[in-house]
Amino acid sequence: MRSQTRQGPWVPLWPAPRVTAEISSGAIYRCLDAAARQELAGVVDIPAKVAGALQQPKPLDISMPVLNAVLAAQYYEVFEALQPPRAMAVYEPCVGASNPVILACEAYSGGQASYLTINLNRPLRAQLQSRIGHLKMPIRIIEDNAQRALEHLPAGSLDVACFHHAVNDILQTAVSEPRGMDTTAVDWFPNERQMIEWLAEDAAAGRLEQRGRPELMQIIGDAVRLVRPGGYLLFDHWNWCRFIGVAWFPWDLFYNLIPMTRAWIAVSGLPLSEVRLDGVDPQWFMVLQVERG
Ligand SMILES: C[S@@+](CC[C@H](N)C(=O)[O-])C[C@H]1O[C@@H](n2cnc3c(N)ncnc32)[C@H](O)[C@@H]1O
Repeated sequence: MRSQTRQGPWVPLWPAPRVTAEISSGAIYRCLDAAARQELAGVVDIPAKVAGALQQPKPLDISMPVLNAVLAAQYYEVFEALQPPRAMAVYEPCVGASNPVILACEAYSGGQASYLTINLNRPLRAQLQSRIGHLKMPIRIIEDNAQRALEHLPAGSLDVACFHHAVNDILQTAVSEPRGMDTTAVDWFPNERQMIEWLAEDAAAGRLEQRGRPELMQIIGDAVRLVRPGGYLLFDHWNWCRFIGVAWFPWDLFYNLIPMTRAWIAVSGLPLSEVRLDGVDPQWFMVLQVERG
């Protein structure tokens, strides 16, 4: 895979003071609903919590309302650096109940973008809907496996596909469904440890080649077909300090999810090149551009 480096006007891309301003009064704050604003108002020392939320792995005293807004600000800054059209069409597989990409799209586009997710778990979808009702942007949620994305969307119809902390979701689903877990219906978080243990077991046994890699690569390959030439695929992952040294947690696998995905893409023949942005650590974030012609 080819790699290009872009010097943006922001070095690094996510300076803590800038991110603090964006979530406290700026572009991201303006897209938060009343409940999220109220939660932020209750946080003591937001600048310190932003600095923590920007660290990898995430510290023990993380503030969840701040982390959520910081993730939105990070995607917002990546959009500003890449400059897709303001009225961009965005696809996010595996959104669950998480709204940072949605907030970033609303903030970047002033509500002109359109957003679509393909997501399996129904309880998380219900939670998400309560967090996005206030936004202007049209939002479509398709309940299906993202492996069937091409049945729902025309090729070349998207500007950006965002895999926001989604590589693990796809791998976990791929190893759990064949073992009999109905991931469309389960209460996700109480069941997530079991999914991760199965994933660890398959990774240790060298079985991701048969289960995990094919599903992930199909979803990525379909996203490449759905994004127009010159458009982008964005990937991020993060980890929690609280899992360091935890026996059942496959730390090395989770630490290397983005590099592993990069390596799989590099040998896939997909027409992608990597864009390196100043201040964006390639261990945790990956920007890929669909090659033209
Ligand atoms: C915990 S949520 C994660 C949300 C978000 N990616 C994040 O980390 O903030 C995981 C979601 O990914 C969805 N998911 C996993 N594999 C999927 C697939 N192959 N197709 C569609 N949705 C999938 C699950 O159904 C669930 O709703």
